[in-house]
Amino acid sequence: MRKHITRRTALGMMGGTALAATLPLARRSLASTAGTEIDVISARYSFFDGKITEGLISTLPDAPPPVIRMKRNEPFMASVTNRLEHFTTMHWHGLRLPNAMDGVPYLTQFPLGQDERFDYELFSPDAGTFWYHPHCVTMEQMALGLTGILIVEEDEDPGFDSEIPLNLRDFRLDGEGRWLDLWTARGAARGGTFGTVMTTNWQLSPDYQAGAGSLVRLRVAATDTTRIYKLFIPNAQAKIIALDGHPLPELIDMPSTEDTALFLGPGQRADIAVLMPDTEGQQINVMTDAPGEPHLLARMTSQGSSMTRSLSDLSPLPANPVPEPDLTSARLEEFVFGWSPEGDLPNNGLCGSLPYTFWSINRTPWAGDAVEGVGPLATFKRNESVVMRLRNESPNDHPIHLHGVAFRPIRSNKRTLPPYWTDTVLLQREETIDIAFVADNPGDWAFHCHVIEHQKTGLAGYIRILDS
Ligand code: C2O
Ligand code: CU
Ligand code: CU
Repeated sequence: MRKHITRRTALGMMGGTALAATLPLARRSLASTAGTEIDVISARYSFFDGKITEGLISTLPDAPPPVIRMKRNEPFMASVTNRLEHFTTMHWHGLRLPNAMDGVPYLTQFPLGQDERFDYELFSPDAGTFWYHPHCVTMEQMALGLTGILIVEEDEDPGFDSEIPLNLRDFRLDGEGRWLDLWTARGAARGGTFGTVMTTNWQLSPDYQAGAGSLVRLRVAATDTTRIYKLFIPNAQAKIIALDGHPLPELIDMPSTEDTALFLGPGQRADIAVLMPDTEGQQINVMTDAPGEPHLLARMTSQGSSMTRSLSDLSPLPANPVPEPDLTSARLEEFVFGWSPEGDLPNNGLCGSLPYTFWSINRTPWAGDAVEGVGPLATFKRNESVVMRLRNESPNDHPIHLHGVAFRPIRSNKRTLPPYWTDTVLLQREETIDIAFVADNPGDWAFHCHVIEHQKTGLAGYIRILDS
């Protein structure tokens, strides 16, 4: 049985899990530790035509959740205070941190009520592009805006002239900027419910300036609850340098057409090096293929006289210290992701459930975060090498995410995979992918589809890594 966290056990826990009382506490001094204060609040914003959208959720009053930057191997205190009436928790997607800081309700912490605070003591052995989002009342809070980029800097500056984070996500709004239903049963049972307004950093096809002939690092994060982006950059010199936070051992050409697009499912990231054109005023378009016609996500315009940089100035980013699994001794565990509309309704306690069951792992829909006594889908010994066979027997795509570790997708029955590390693998329809990793981070780690409607209607569970 998992260590099911109730308010009482939470209050008894040590260290960074000190829960606030119902009144805001005096901030503890952060003198020795880098950090940030995060208040989860409601927000308003104009996406288009001067129409105001109310009822967004962010950590700034009238802007998207900001990019958070921390340094590799240095403690970083993220003090999160919940100013909403609903419960919440914050999760740091992709960070290999101690289990108690992972922000998963009931599994690693008790949900935060109104005006309660949780000090997340973040730490990352890995540099790269990660992101943060709530893990409680997720369908609403993420759809209403609470998704932000988290950057862990390399020890040494990798030599770009500038950097542009691109937080890609949709909102479901009508022509007046009012909310449509955030999800639909029809969508939840299929590929998910798509937004109507595609945004980049909460803007519609924003324009960025960058030095002519300079090297720009794009940090792209797909934080939408549903959409799989199909990225391409026409007529540009551009290389993919990292996927899902982790550097590629060799740079890969960035696709330039929709037929060769880079797929980025919900939760996935890509770091892309772009060489800006030499002539002032020339433009580069970051595109996604979309039903109908390709959509402009962002544009970059060359400025000033050429800095005459070259992509060959770049070498691969330094590898992150992820232990290499031993495939000859690895234990194989199989998981099947499928359709199970007959299950009981999930119960997520204070964290909000959708009133449907559609999906399952190993034919069992997740009972819900708040249900006690639900065992792990698999238990691994510490430092054991593991292969998890992920089999999608449904006609939909599922970005499958595992907390707490980085893993290598090692083979697929449908395509050739580049050598890389990830935390979220896009399992295409009827695809089987084997992933391998060393179970080196003890704790109970959430394992779920990152199409939030799938997660919330059954496609979720957890795995356990034992302490000794
Ligand atoms: Cu990005 Cu379990 O989450
Ligand atoms: Cu995660
Ligand atoms: Cu899914």
